[in-house]
Amino acid sequence: MSQTTRDGFGSRFGVLVAVAGSAVGLGNLWRFPYMVGNNGGAAFILLYLFFVILLCLPIMFSEFVIGRRAQANVFGAVNSIAPKSGWLSIGIISVVASISIMSFYSVVGGWTLEYVFKSFSPSFLTSNSDSLSDQFSNFSQRGLLPVIMHLLFLLISALIVVAGVKNGIEKYSKILMPMLFVLVILLAIRSLTLPGASEGVKFLLYPDFSKITSQTVLAALGQAFFSLSLGMGCIITYGSYVNKKENLFKISFMSAIADTGFAIIAGLAVVPAVFAFGISPDQGPSLVFITLPQIFAQLPFGNIIAISFFFILLIAALTSSISLLEVVVAYFTEELKISRKNSVIITFIIIGFFGTLSSLSIGPLKNILLFNKTFFDLFDYTSSNILLPIGGLLVVLFVGWKMKKEDVFDELSSGGSISLNKKIFGAILFVIKFMAPIAISIVLLNSIGIIKLF
Ligand code: PFF
Repeated sequence: MSQTTRDGFGSRFGVLVAVAGSAVGLGNLWRFPYMVGNNGGAAFILLYLFFVILLCLPIMFSEFVIGRRAQANVFGAVNSIAPKSGWLSIGIISVVASISIMSFYSVVGGWTLEYVFKSFSPSFLTSNSDSLSDQFSNFSQRGLLPVIMHLLFLLISALIVVAGVKNGIEKYSKILMPMLFVLVILLAIRSLTLPGASEGVKFLLYPDFSKITSQTVLAALGQAFFSLSLGMGCIITYGSYVNKKENLFKISFMSAIADTGFAIIAGLAVVPAVFAFGISPDQGPSLVFITLPQIFAQLPFGNIIAISFFFILLIAALTSSISLLEVVVAYFTEELKISRKNSVIITFIIIGFFGTLSSLSIGPLKNILLFNKTFFDLFDYTSSNILLPIGGLLVVLFVGWKMKKEDVFDELSSGGSISLNKKIFGAILFVIKFMAPIAISIVLLNSIGIIKLF
C-alpha cells in the first residue's frame, strides 16, 4: 500500500484533539459517574487512577508504536510485523470489540440526541427526581423511539467517517472539545455549591476499601481501558495516521491527562448533585440523565444550558463513535479492499442490528437474558471487562516480545528526533514486557476465580 494514498492528520493539534476526542466521550460523562456510584466511590477512583498510570499509558505508547510503525489498520499493522501469525487475533479482537462497544454506545448516543430535543421543551426541566426518572424510563423503555434515535446517531457518525480523517474527524473535534470542557467545569462548580453536596464530595474523596471486590477491580480496569480507548486498536489505527516526527509520549500524556481530568470533573459535576438531590448513586446507566436536568432546572437559563450540554455531549459521543467505526472501516477498506463508502454501509448495517437488540433490551426485550445479562449489559460487560483487557494484554506482549527492540526505540524516539535516554527506554520496555502483562493477567484471572488474591 503506498503511503501517499493514505489519509492522515494535518497537524499536531489535530492529532491531539482527535485522540483526546476519541478518549473523551460518554465514557467520561455518562459511564464514569455511574461506575463510581455503583462501585463505592473513592476506592474505585483510586484503582482507576492507578490503572491509568501503571497500565494505560504503556499500552497507549505500545498502540501508537504499532500503528505508526506499520502505517496500516490493525490487521494490516500486525500482519506486516508478524505475517500470518496468531498475533492476528489482535485484529479480530479489535473489530469484534469495536462492534460490541458501538452496539450499546450508539444507543446511549441516541438517548443523548433525544435529550437535546427534549431540552427544548420548557416543561422538561424540573427539580423533581421522580418525574425525571419516569421521563427517562418512559422514553428508554419505549420500543421504537430509542431505536430510531440510535439509528440516527449511528447515521451521523457514519456520515462523518465517510468524509475521512482530516475533513471529518479532525475538523469537528477541534472546535467542540474545548467548549465541552468549559461547560463541564461550570456544571461542576454549580453541583459543588448545591446545599447537601458535601456528602457527595466525601463519597468521592474518602475511600472505603472494604467495598473492593474482584469485580470492582475488574470494573476499574475495564473503565480505564474504555475511557482511554485502549485495547481495541483504536489508537493503533489513529497512530497509523500520525506524522513520523510527532512525539508519541506527548500525545499520550496529554490525551491521558485530558481524559482523566474530564472524568474527574464529570464525577464532580454529577456525584455531589446526586447526594444533594437525594438520588441513590447506584442508579446505573440512567444516572446522568436524571441528575443533570435537576441541576439545569436550578440555573438561570436552564433550558439553554441543557440544550448546550446535551448537544456538546452528543459531539463528544460522536468524536468517540467515529473512532470506533474507523477501526472497522479501515479494516474493510484496506484488508478486504471494499470502498470506503461501502465499508461504512456494511458497518452501519451490522451495528444498526446489534444496537437495535441492545436498545430493545432496555424495554420490550428486557426479559431475554444471556449469561444473566440483557443484550445492552452483555455488550457493555464483554467489551469493557473482557475484550479490551485481553486486547491490551496482547498489544503489550506484541510490542514487548515480538517487535524488534530497535524498531520500538525508533518509534518512541520519533526516528531519533527526540532524545530518548536508554535507561528510560529500558524502564518503559520493562513495564511493557513484564509489569503490564502480569498486572492485567492477575486482574483477569482473579475476576474469573482462577486465582484468589482480593
Ligand atoms: N473512550 C470513549 C469514551 O470514553 O466514551 C469510548 C471508546 C472509544 C472506547 C474508542 C474504545 C474506543 F476504542
